Amino acid sequence: MTKTIKIGVAGLGTVGAGVLKIIEAHGDLLEARSGARLKVTAVSGRDKNKDRGVSIDGMTWYADATALATDPNVDVVLELVGGSEGIARELCTMALKAGKHVVTANKALLAIHGIELATLAEANNVSLAYEAAVAGGIPIVKALREGLSANAISRVYGILNGTCNYILTEMEETGGEFENILKDAQELGYAEADPSFDIDGVDAAHKLAILTSLAFATPVDFDSVFVEGIRDVTADDISYARELGYRVKLLGVARQTENGIEQRVHPCMVDRKTSIANVSGVNNAVVVEGDFVDSTVYVGRGAGEGPTASAVVADIIDIAAGRHSATFGVPVDKMTDIPKVSIEDHVGCYYVCLSVYDRPGVIADVSAAFRDENISIESLLQRGRSTEEAVPVILVTHEAKESALVKALSKIEKFPHSAAKPRMIRIVSL
Ligand SMILES: NC(=O)c1ccc[n+]([C@@H]2O[C@H](COP(=O)([O-])OP(=O)(O)OC[C@H]3O[C@@H](n4cnc5c(N)ncnc54)[C@H](OP(=O)(O)O)[C@@H]3O)[C@@H](O)[C@H]2O)c1
Repeated sequence: MTKTIKIGVAGLGTVGAGVLKIIEAHGDLLEARSGARLKVTAVSGRDKNKDRGVSIDGMTWYADATALATDPNVDVVLELVGGSEGIARELCTMALKAGKHVVTANKALLAIHGIELATLAEANNVSLAYEAAVAGGIPIVKALREGLSANAISRVYGILNGTCNYILTEMEETGGEFENILKDAQELGYAEADPSFDIDGVDAAHKLAILTSLAFATPVDFDSVFVEGIRDVTADDISYARELGYRVKLLGVARQTENGIEQRVHPCMVDRKTSIANVSGVNNAVVVEGDFVDSTVYVGRGAGEGPTASAVVADIIDIAAGRHSATFGVPVDKMTDIPKVSIEDHVGCYYVCLSVYDRPGVIADVSAAFRDENISIESLLQRGRSTEEAVPVILVTHEAKESALVKALSKIEKFPHSAAKPRMIRIVSL
């Protein structure tokens, strides 16, 4: 007789309801693929009477989600509530301690408490699975943990937040400013009412911290991720990027360097001809570079009911089929605590936009400020002439240390002919 895997679902919002729909729609297919019948036996949410577009008839309703952890009629707990603390953390902790497998889509929880929870999963010999937590429907966790496990990874980077990618794409296509496009995105449902987690880069940083651990077999270390969002990117930056052959993308980059691992999320200028530059709208993309496989690219929907629920159900199928992997690819006690490189030590090329009054000697002063910090300039472009109003000066540097660039820009900002704080966007060579 086919075994039954009994599932308890905490959170019946976008993702939770999506999971119920897949299990309902694809019962036979999932059974063929996993060797077990998947059955949702218990659910939990805040409001039992809310219409969720799915039937919860015959399922036990718990007002307190932690009851799923102790229900003997639940083998696998799905944590689809969200948040790095509170009920999500409590439920996962209790379920793992009770010897139940846990599947979650919660990147915030894993970025901050991933190692603590992975340790619990190992101690209790159960799975902690989270494919949906990074890049939604793209199976990047599986790719890193299994498909590419023969490789030493040198770099993993990607577009990890669909909201930011949508805004930057629209800014380029319409020439609009950030604030206006954000408002449109909120009206269309592509950005939250409070969009700060997305546009300030925190959501992408949570995902990057998880990817770093998977790629480099090192403990998740969210605190050392450098994070800068897209609020300060202007329509002018996007337009100058185009002239220079670049496109602006919010990327998360984790890279092995001689001194340790860089983990950074910030707007980047990327060559327009690269595959990642051509990933537009709400799509996500991840590129993994391994020593034997070379470069591999993964593109798809990073969020939304269907793609996210698809990843959650894939994790349930693995558990039902008895396929088990260490949470972050290697057991916690086999991880190496690799030092993290701070952003001041980052070495790269930079796009710089200055706003200066067009007076004799300005360019000489600017050049001197860069020369004093040992930064050489690849190109310099002055736009317009006006004795009254400030004009933009656009520079691209050769490779320079970030701390040196910051010093040069702070010197330039203090010049009497500077009209505004200089802006800078890192150029990423891909
Ligand atoms: N949405 C996406 O596209 C997406 C993509 C990737 C990852 N994720 C992650 O997936 C998780 C869920 O996201 P979502 O978009 O589905 O969120 P959501 O639509 O806001 O749903 C959250 C659900 O949690 C329930 N809930 C809240 N507090 C609860 C409590 N104390 N006890 C029990 N249930 C509680 C809510 O109940 P009520 O419905 O009764 O209010 C709701 O059903 C988050 O970790 C998110 O980061 C989401």
